[in-house]
Amino acid sequence: MQNKLTIKDIKVKNQIVLVRTDYNVPLKDGSVASDFRIRASLPTINYLREHGAKKIILISHLGRPDGKKVKELSLKPVALKLAELLPGVPVNFVDDVSGPDVEDAVSHLGNGGVLLLENLRFYPGEEKNSEDFIREIIDSTGANIYVQDGFAVIHRAHASTSAVTKNLPVYAGLLLEKEISSLEKITKSPDRPLMLMLGGSKVDDKAPLIEAFKDKADSICIGGKIAADGAVSPADKIYIAEDFDEDAEGNKLDCGPVSTAHFVETAKKSKTVVWNGLLGKAEDVAFATSSTIFLKTLGESPEIESIILGGDTTAFAEELMEEDDKLHFTLLSTGGGAALEFLGGNSLPGLEAIENK
Ligand code: 3PG
Repeated sequence: MQNKLTIKDIKVKNQIVLVRTDYNVPLKDGSVASDFRIRASLPTINYLREHGAKKIILISHLGRPDGKKVKELSLKPVALKLAELLPGVPVNFVDDVSGPDVEDAVSHLGNGGVLLLENLRFYPGEEKNSEDFIREIIDSTGANIYVQDGFAVIHRAHASTSAVTKNLPVYAGLLLEKEISSLEKITKSPDRPLMLMLGGSKVDDKAPLIEAFKDKADSICIGGKIAADGAVSPADKIYIAEDFDEDAEGNKLDCGPVSTAHFVETAKKSKTVVWNGLLGKAEDVAFATSSTIFLKTLGESPEIESIILGGDTTAFAEELMEEDDKLHFTLLSTGGGAALEFLGGNSLPGLEAIENK
């Protein structure tokens, strides 16, 4: 990330640092079901602590509560998980984002302590991109440095991603830097051949990506629902799955062996592979074959730079990595929409907001 300032460019010692994270994580029975995004935020928190930050205040959204307090979407379970992941570090939670309770919690936070505030989207000001809303948070926490590390939400023009610049300069955190740098490399100077592998069910999301990669990529392969729905290849370099595994009713739920072999061969001839979207209905083990074979091909080939985007695809990769710790990928992105918009060539409000070098 060449042109933006990051926390490595500034002095954080003795500062109160407000960090916008993306802790929009799946919950199950009131607990965090996947801590992928929480773990991804640790390098920035650890960096700030190691470099003497006085207090670290974390803010995030969770779900889409529409400006109202929804008990099930409290960030409290995230604070509990964070405490587990940061043994020996005081991690506190306060169920507000500004006002006396926040001031009190900040004043009781020890040196290097971490405090997570409540869900930003419980308040209408967040999605209205309100300057006053984010100023109240900054005033209540006494923050003098603002760090944007919520990569997955930088495509939204919200108070904590956009209007914040009216109050404090914004610096990039380490997660954001890592994700943008990997994606930038693909858009500017990918190691070639570059392959784009697309699947998934959100067919409309993929059109801009195909458009953006049409000239850039050396090959584009399409599986998943788009292929099963009968898409027709508009160009030679675009290969669309040609055989499918079906259920008893004849629904095409996974790519078949011929298509999967084609995906694998193309990947093996590539130096960079960008993958978004599962190749079949992979939550059902009977239809996870194509996705599993393709994922293993990438994970077992260190010579291929592999960038995996989107919630379902990264979650699937994480699952397989738990079973096989030899699998390695260059980047498992925490952002689906944000990464797709970036690769589609769109400007991202949360990235624009970061100070230029
Ligand atoms: C995501 O999960 O894609 C981000 O957290 C953004 O969430 P949103 O789509 O509700 O804005």
